[in-house]
Amino acid sequence: MVVNQVESGLAAVEQKLRTVVNSDISLLQDASQHIIVSGGKRLRPRLAFLAYLAAGGEKLELVVPLAAAVELVHTATLVHDDINDHSLTRRGKVTVHARWGRTFALLTGDYLFSKVYELMAPYGAEYNVIMADACVSLVEGETLQAAAAKAGSIDQETYKKIIARKTASLFEAAACMGARLAGGDETTVQALGQYAYNLGLAFQIVDDILDIIGDPETLGKPVGGDLVQGAGVLMAHNGHPAEIGAPVAEADPIQAMMARLRESGAIEVAHLQAQEMARRAREALAPLPDSPARRELLSLVDLVVERER
Ligand code: IPE
Ligand code: IPE
Ligand code: MG
Repeated sequence: MVVNQVESGLAAVEQKLRTVVNSDISLLQDASQHIIVSGGKRLRPRLAFLAYLAAGGEKLELVVPLAAAVELVHTATLVHDDINDHSLTRRGKVTVHARWGRTFALLTGDYLFSKVYELMAPYGAEYNVIMADACVSLVEGETLQAAAAKAGSIDQETYKKIIARKTASLFEAAACMGARLAGGDETTVQALGQYAYNLGLAFQIVDDILDIIGDPETLGKPVGGDLVQGAGVLMAHNGHPAEIGAPVAEADPIQAMMARLRESGAIEVAHLQAQEMARRAREALAPLPDSPARRELLSLVDLVVERER
């Protein structure tokens, strides 16, 4: 039942995403449609729906524009992030900047961000402030990461700050807004927010692990990119590239660095960290009564930790 409800909510989100990017400037519409129809896991809208249901909400259609807005924020950041990371594939397709060039990719990201205002307007100030705070955190996280990459080193504390802001903040906002819309009390909203925040941390750590051991075909995006940036979880565990062996005078320096990392035991350490965040996510749900939505949220934790894409 809950699964069906969420799936039909997600289908409505798909519809919303496709129709909202309706610019009469065909390039903006084409580039936006390109990244939207490429798919993606739609994890953040799913979180908004499940938090709404877990907090006792009964009219899932009320969440659809908000869930679409959260996904659009995420989509916009991917378009911009792929410029910064020089990535050529995303969601199994060519990236927007690789196909349309950097200028139009920047503008497409700006367009997607701007459409978020339109979707969020009906919800009023409180929700818009939550969304704005998440967007600010995201930009801060990406900035901290780029700065760490430039400096060529990253410590555990900085890594945690980066992933909290660039990833966990939007997860948290999606769940908090869903729970609030359901009329959940403060304890419920906080619990679901904490759940999603920790889930987001686990998600990003696993993403950084997959950057080393994942299959680019399955992931639909390149691997090894975080190493090029000198960032990522394994850097945080193992020190900066120089300590692993600087990428010089090797046929394929990134591959060589990835191999050294795989042998170093850092992946196991990172897995343990992801599991700890997953434990915190599950624990955060303790104040909520048992419900089908709460059970779905619990199984989502396992999916995130065990995922291969
Ligand atoms: C990718 O997010 C960016 C990270 C936060 C690691 P997702 O893995 O959720 O991307 P899609 O939406 O499924 O493509
Ligand atoms: C993606 O981050 C963008 C944000 C989380 C804001 P990453 O660079 O870590 O993710 P991928 O590997 O490109 O998907
Ligand atoms: Mg990236």
